[in-house]
Parts: sequence; structure tokens; C-alpha cells
Amino acid sequence: MSKIKKLSINEAKKIAAGEVVERPSNIVKELVENSIDAGSKNISIYIQDGGKKLIRVVDDGFGMSEEDAKLCFEHHATSKITKVDDLDKIYTYGFRGEALSTISSISKIALITKEEDVQFGIKLLLEDGQIISEEKVSASRGTDIKVENIFYNVPARQKFLKKSETEWRNISQLFQSYCFAYKNIHFKLFNDDNIIFNCPTVKNIKERIVQVWNLSLSESCIKIEDENQKYNFSIEGYISNHQVHQFNRNRIYLFVNNRWIKNIELSRSLLKGYQNVLPSGRFPVAVILIKVDPKNVDINVHPRKEEVRLLHSYQIEQALQLSVKVALERNLSKQLNKNVKISGAKILPFEQSLQLYAETDFGQDYDNLITPARQSDFSRDTLIRVEQPFAAEFNLSNNLNKLEIEELFGSRISSRESSSEQLNVSKKESRFKFLGQVKKTYLLMESEEGLLVVDQHAAHESVLFDLFTKRFDTVSTVKLVFPHIINLQESELDTVIEYLPILKKYGIESERLGAAQLVITATPVHLKDASLDDLLSQVVSWINEFENLDNKDLESELSKKLCAQMACKASIKAGDDVSELQVDQLMKDLYNVENRFTCPHGRPTFWTLSTNEIEKKFKRDYKS
Ligand SMILES: Nc1ncnc2c1ncn2[C@@H]1O[C@H](COP(=O)(O)OP(=O)(O)OP(=O)(O)O)[C@@H](O)[C@H]1O
Ligand SMILES: [Mg+2]
Repeated sequence: MSKIKKLSINEAKKIAAGEVVERPSNIVKELVENSIDAGSKNISIYIQDGGKKLIRVVDDGFGMSEEDAKLCFEHHATSKITKVDDLDKIYTYGFRGEALSTISSISKIALITKEEDVQFGIKLLLEDGQIISEEKVSASRGTDIKVENIFYNVPARQKFLKKSETEWRNISQLFQSYCFAYKNIHFKLFNDDNIIFNCPTVKNIKERIVQVWNLSLSESCIKIEDENQKYNFSIEGYISNHQVHQFNRNRIYLFVNNRWIKNIELSRSLLKGYQNVLPSGRFPVAVILIKVDPKNVDINVHPRKEEVRLLHSYQIEQALQLSVKVALERNLSKQLNKNVKISGAKILPFEQSLQLYAETDFGQDYDNLITPARQSDFSRDTLIRVEQPFAAEFNLSNNLNKLEIEELFGSRISSRESSSEQLNVSKKESRFKFLGQVKKTYLLMESEEGLLVVDQHAAHESVLFDLFTKRFDTVSTVKLVFPHIINLQESELDTVIEYLPILKKYGIESERLGAAQLVITATPVHLKDASLDDLLSQVVSWINEFENLDNKDLESELSKKLCAQMACKASIKAGDDVSELQVDQLMKDLYNVENRFTCPHGRPTFWTLSTNEIEKKFKRDYKS
């Protein structure tokens, strides 16, 4: 007897559903795209419990007839194409006729839809992909679809759903993408009955940035545009200027023919355009809409349509990189009233050999060029702030003098001073003789072994990291006279709120203040002048990064990162003046640290040029 059995259509659909629907945001995507394809001008999205309990999308598009409403849940039922060749000229999101069929196989659905010229709409209820009830109802033109209890009949998948906050975050990010791609649609997003975003139609993307993010961010964005007739594409959008950046890429939105896509090469080109302008590990904000001829893009390469294949990808990447660089230069030149050129990655002419391009090393290590973070002024109404020009100071310095840099970046480099009582160190105890400071970054010391070159920042970081991790109880906390208020996005605050006890363990005391503000009331003594806003936004990005870890591992990772970051923020920086007493104390402390050879980020803290080596160099070793 044959062992092979054919699965029933329903079971097969449930299994295949994972391709299209993995999490609630995938369902939101399919439903909203159907609404956009239906020519809607108003689209409202209602979410409950991160979409696990309910996703409802209400539109005022052209709706469906009774017959189509019953058909739309069938496998491969689509009104958008009739043959594969149609994909070459397609402007709609949908083309597979698969989304509703898949979603209906793993959730409970209620659909009400009505076309313009009919008296009644139709209401259908579905379970397990089957229509279980139908009735005529009065309704206005458009479609109202509710998807409830996703994966209720596939428990194995249900347990892989993430926390509601994580799912909500993904939905909210997706929602923002539609707002950017469609300025002529009025979008609303509700979470558990509260309206979170209300975005009426706007004239341009800049206005959308105000609605979706905030005014100060929008004001700091600069326009990029380019058109290429030979390869038939155009690029348009807004990018943050050189002063604004953040710790993660979650505000980089790239679109191809209004589809929000994930494309590593294009993101890389965007970042290359910023080369030598942004500090290492920081990312810009960008909304970029690329339009190409539909026949030059393959949209059918990813089950959830998150990727596309571009025929002229190389030319588009190069054009994007160049547009970003040119826009940044233009903006800098305007601010400084003189012609500024950024020495960024080389941009090759389109026709030049791809081979050459592949061989060019664009991924140079910025850390060697850049001073670490300094304390800085920051704008408090956004997570992203104006920083000292770490990279800019070094890489733009060919073109700008120091005064101009300070003028441009808005704050002066402050040197850290400590009082000698505080250090309380006896010079006689020291095993090292301080010879001097090189480039305000390295300390030259004479030791018994020879010459020691110490990276002042890395060494101090290593000392403080040790202090924070091992002996934290002995580190005192100071209550802030003026509590520091940090503005976060509501979802970010929700993310961070349950981890506040961990922060407290490390001396950062804080509490929620309203829907999107956190108030810091105390910090460790070393940290009090460091940028708390930076630290908090990093905490949010770490929590997101570690979302797959269980609570214990997450806590330990978070603690490690927190200590490293606090050590980095509170330590002497390259560029700071240091007194002899400070150097003595630093060396003494460093030699008490077990892992003194590297800083928490893995960079060496010092190296030694032994007397032997020096003698060899001067050919004095021949005697021995
Ligand atoms: N909100 C809506 N308004 C009007 N018609 C709709 C709506 N949602 C779905 N439809 C109709 O139902 C059909 C099936 O939708 P479904 O999302 O399953 O497939 P599709 O959009 O054609 O392709 P894809 O699977 O790629 O999304 C659509 O082709 C469209 O005719
Ligand atoms: Mg669809």
C-alpha cells in the first residue's frame, strides 16, 4: 500500500501559509496593499494585541461584488493579472491571488464589502478558509476586513509569534512606509482603540516626515533627486543632514516603484554617500523613492514581496551614492558659505568596469580616523541629536578650520578636568614616568621595559568598564538637581520600560512620564555629564537586537553593553587635555585591571616598545 498521501487542500494551505504570513505585520501588509490597489483614498488600520488578536483594515476603495467577495478567498484568485507576462507592466501590489486565501486558512475572517453602484454590501464570515455565513448588509463603498486570532488552528506557528510590543513595532514601521510611499492617501493607525497615527494627505514627503516622525527631524532633512534617461529611472527623497544620525537603520526607508524594499546593496550605496560624514556605527534617516520602468524590475523574487531584482542595479546604486554625496556637499557649502567637498568613497563613472568597482575597498575602518564620542549638546525633542563632528572633524578638516567646525556643529570641545584631591595619588608609587601626550590622544610613558604608548581613551574605558562590572555597588549615584527628560517614541518607551530595573542596578534611576517621555532622576557619578539621550536610545536598540534571547541572557547582554557604553561615555576622550596626576592615576588603575590589554570594544589599550627593540633600531644591540 502506498505510504504517500496527498494532503487536503486546507492542510496544504496551512503549511504553505508560512511563506506569505509569518507574523501579524505580514497580514497588515497584504490587507493594506489590497486597499491601495483598490484605489482607496482613506485607509484605517486597527490593531489589538500586536495584531495577534485583531487586525482590521477599513478602506473606501472600489469594493467587491458579491460574486468577487466569495471568490477572493480562493487559491490563485486575482483581478490584477491574467498571465505571467502582465508582470512586466504591473503597477499594483498584488499579482499572485494568494494573500486572502492564505490568511483565511490560518485565522477567522469577517469581510464587509460594497461597490459604488449597488444598494447593499455583502458580509462574509470565514473559518478555516471556508465561508460559514453570508448576508446582505448596508455599508458604504469600500471594504472592511477583520482578521482575528491568527494561527489559532496552527498552534506550532502561534507559539513563534513574538511579544505584542515587538509585533506592534513592526506594524508601526510598516505603516510609516505606506505613509511615505502614498502621500495622497489619508492613513490612520489605531492600537487597542487608541489612535496612534493620523496622517491626512500631504503635498510632499517632507510633510509626511513631520506627521510620522517630527518637525525637527523634517527640518534637518535635505532633498535628493536624480533622473537617468538612459536607464530610465529616477531617484527622489529626503535624507538627514550631516548633523543628524541614529544608532540603528530603522528610519532608512527605500522604495522601488512605491514598494518598500529591503536591499542591502542600495542601503550600502546610501551609506557610502555619507562616507566620512557620519561617525562610525551611526546611521542616517532617509526616505528614498526610486522609480524604474516596470519591465526593468522583477517583483516576483520574494514570497512576501520584500525584495525586488533590478535590471540596472549597479547604475542605480552609483546614482544613489552620488546624489547623497552631492546633496550633503551642497548643504554643507550653503551653511558655510563656501565650496565644500567631502572626501568620500570613490564614485566611478557608470560605464567603468564592474571588476574595478568590486576591487575597491570602500569598507575602511572608520575607528582609526575618528575620535570617540564627546559630550555634546543635543536637541531634546528627538531621539536623534546634533553631535560633535567626530568623523567630520577629521575628514572634513581639509576643507574646514576648527572654528568653522565648531560653528557648524554647535558646541565646543570640552576638556575634562579632575581636581587633584579627588585623584589623591602619590607620584612616588608610580612605575611609569609620564613623558608627554601625543596628538592629545596617546600618552607616552617610560617604564622599566621601555617605552609605553597608551591610548588614553581606551585605557580609561577599560578601567571604568572594570569598575562598572565588578565593583558596581561601590560606585555612587547622584540625584540630578534637574531631572533629565528624554523623549522617545511611544513604542520605544514601551520597549524600554520593563528593563528600567536593570538600569537602576547600574545607577540610572528613571521613571515614565506620560506616553512618550522618560525622566532620569539619578545617574552614576561618572556618568552625570554624559549624553543620557544617547545611552537610552542605544538601550532601545540593544533590546530590539536581543529580542530572541530569553530574559536571563538578555539581561546579561544588556548589562555588558550598558557597562561598556557607560565606560565609553564617562572616560577621557581623544582630544582631551590630561594632567600628570590624572595620567598617574590612570596608569595605576589600569594595572589593577585584569583585562587591561583591550578596551570593552576590543581595541588595544597600550603597546610597548621594549628597550631591546629601541636599541636594535639604533644598532646598539651589536655589543651584547
Ligand atoms: N480591499 C479590497 N478592495 C477591493 N478588492 C479587493 C480588496 N482586497 C482584495 N480584493 C480582491 O481580491 C482579490 C484577491 O486578493 P489577494 O490579496 O488574495 O490577491 P491579489 O492581491 O490579487 O494578489 P497577492 O496575493 O499578490 O496579494 C484581489 O485580486 C482583488 O480583486
Ligand atoms: Mg493582495
